[in-house]
Amino acid sequence: MCGIVGYIGNNRAEDVLVDGLKKLEYRGYDSAGVAIFDEGEIKVRKYKGRMANLEEHLSKEDIKGSLGIGHTRWATHGEPSDRNSHPHTNVSGSIALIHNGILENYMQLKEWLIEMKGDIFKSETDTEVIAHLIDHYYEGDLLDAVFTAVDKMEGAYALGVICKDEPDKIVAVRKDSPLIVGLGEDANYIASDIPALLKYTKNMYLIENGETVLLEKDKVTIYNELRQEVKRDVFEVTWDAQAAEKEGYEHFMIKEINEQPKGVHDTLHRRLNKEEKIELDGIKLTKEDLDRINKVYIVACGTAYHAGLVGKYAIEKFAKIPVDVAVASEFRYSDPFIDENTLFIAVSQSGETLDTLAALREAKRKGARIMSVVNVVGSSVARESDDVFYTWAGPEIAVASTKAYTTQLVSMYLIALNMADTKGSISQERYTEIVNELKTMPLKIENIVKNDEDLQKLADEQFNKENAFYIGRGLDVCVASEGSLKLKEISYIHSEAIAAGELKHGTIALIEEGRLVIALATQDRLYDKMLSNIQEVRARGAYVIGVAKEGNKEIEKTADKVIYIPDTMDELTPILSVVPLQLLSYYIAVARGCDVDKPKNLAKSVTVE
Ligand code: F6R
Repeated sequence: MCGIVGYIGNNRAEDVLVDGLKKLEYRGYDSAGVAIFDEGEIKVRKYKGRMANLEEHLSKEDIKGSLGIGHTRWATHGEPSDRNSHPHTNVSGSIALIHNGILENYMQLKEWLIEMKGDIFKSETDTEVIAHLIDHYYEGDLLDAVFTAVDKMEGAYALGVICKDEPDKIVAVRKDSPLIVGLGEDANYIASDIPALLKYTKNMYLIENGETVLLEKDKVTIYNELRQEVKRDVFEVTWDAQAAEKEGYEHFMIKEINEQPKGVHDTLHRRLNKEEKIELDGIKLTKEDLDRINKVYIVACGTAYHAGLVGKYAIEKFAKIPVDVAVASEFRYSDPFIDENTLFIAVSQSGETLDTLAALREAKRKGARIMSVVNVVGSSVARESDDVFYTWAGPEIAVASTKAYTTQLVSMYLIALNMADTKGSISQERYTEIVNELKTMPLKIENIVKNDEDLQKLADEQFNKENAFYIGRGLDVCVASEGSLKLKEISYIHSEAIAAGELKHGTIALIEEGRLVIALATQDRLYDKMLSNIQEVRARGAYVIGVAKEGNKEIEKTADKVIYIPDTMDELTPILSVVPLQLLSYYIAVARGCDVDKPKNLAKSVTVE
């Protein structure tokens, strides 16, 4: 949460910072600000609201400086306001800094600074305390002052710091919040995420926890916690700059829904060898390993958790290993049964979600083997795992996850099938049949996306509903959960997902005339039972949109409207059935005039607990 960016070079810092912040706005958009070294002083401009507001203010003046830092905020300490926006400064304004994370001992440090020096604070933020702290230790060497201040700090932080008396450097620090360094020609950069810098460079340093970086125009020096210089290999990013642009689409979300055929194709085909066998990026899960593993935990948050639910189904069904799926924020505090025979799988688009990371560390501490399914290469979850399986979704910018989810699903299937094949718990015929069916998914998704007129019409009819229920059975419950989350997070319609068989145990009390119910009925063996559940809610006045496989026409007799997905085997329907639900949510949110890519109160990368 919160995006940070910094630039030192020969060009106008303002341009680079504004451009970078726009790319990072998905990390938080309560306020935005920059601090630029210009005409011998640090000029700080920061405003509540979106980037557009900051840009408009900046356009009224001409700040030429070529060194600066910028921030886009997701508020933690202190309401969104100009005053609480970053960058923050010390009393004299000689030090400015940006911060992503939470300083846990800020109250103690603040009281200490007030008591000792009578410091006056302008904001309610934890970040301002860091600026004062660095100032307190400053004796002519910014790097040294930052090192000393950081020793006193507890919590999570990625910092970018500049100083009026040292107009040729940026000092950056990373602890538990993401930080990368971009390497340009006579220019260097810092940022929270890769997309912010793609336009300028594809050569990056991935900064490790506890490291401090000194950026000069033509030099980057990385130090460890002991203040020793460390060498780092350059990491070359393979994403192209286009991937982080809207390319003519109205929103990133719809662009990313359209990119799913490619993401699914890439995630699958990069793992199939010449014999059409699945290879897991060099991850060695031998038969002995798998025979020893008696428990798998899949741990994730939000949409990634919903992908984990499908993962449980696939691993249990194909590899015959018991799986528990847990929400990461609960996992750590639930005393999970973990030992060296446990396989822990973290699923995360960003690879920076703090809850997931904390759960991973707990599992590691208890001796589990750690595997992760991650989209962002080199992210914290990836780096702290024993084995990483990357989803090939490309950068996902919209806050609501779509292509990351479908590629996570494909990854879960590939991992499950690979395990099953190694263990010998699946026949070769079945294995080949499923792999062949997986190969048809990109085209089938494309069919759904290209023929979305019915969904647009439905959205236009249903957009003013204030409640919705998603129901299903078996695998459809997992997809119902994801569909429901998608709708609520971008349209603000209250929505709930429930196993259709559970309706009668309470929730059916909420079904009344006109209530919107989305009923997934893609599982052949549960189809008839779903039709009965649809009848139950219809009988109480619900308006039912059914989702079924092509050819299963019986549902037309009970549902008000039916959306068909291309026929596929029951086990793989989630990869298809989620797509109309994404589209429906998208068009409903657009019809309601919502800010689809940046829903209120949310941020793309959730780096607070
Ligand atoms: C919803 C959404 C979130 C994320 C969750 C985990 O559309 O995107 O629920 O899935 O915050 O994020 P990652 O996958 O980055 O760990």
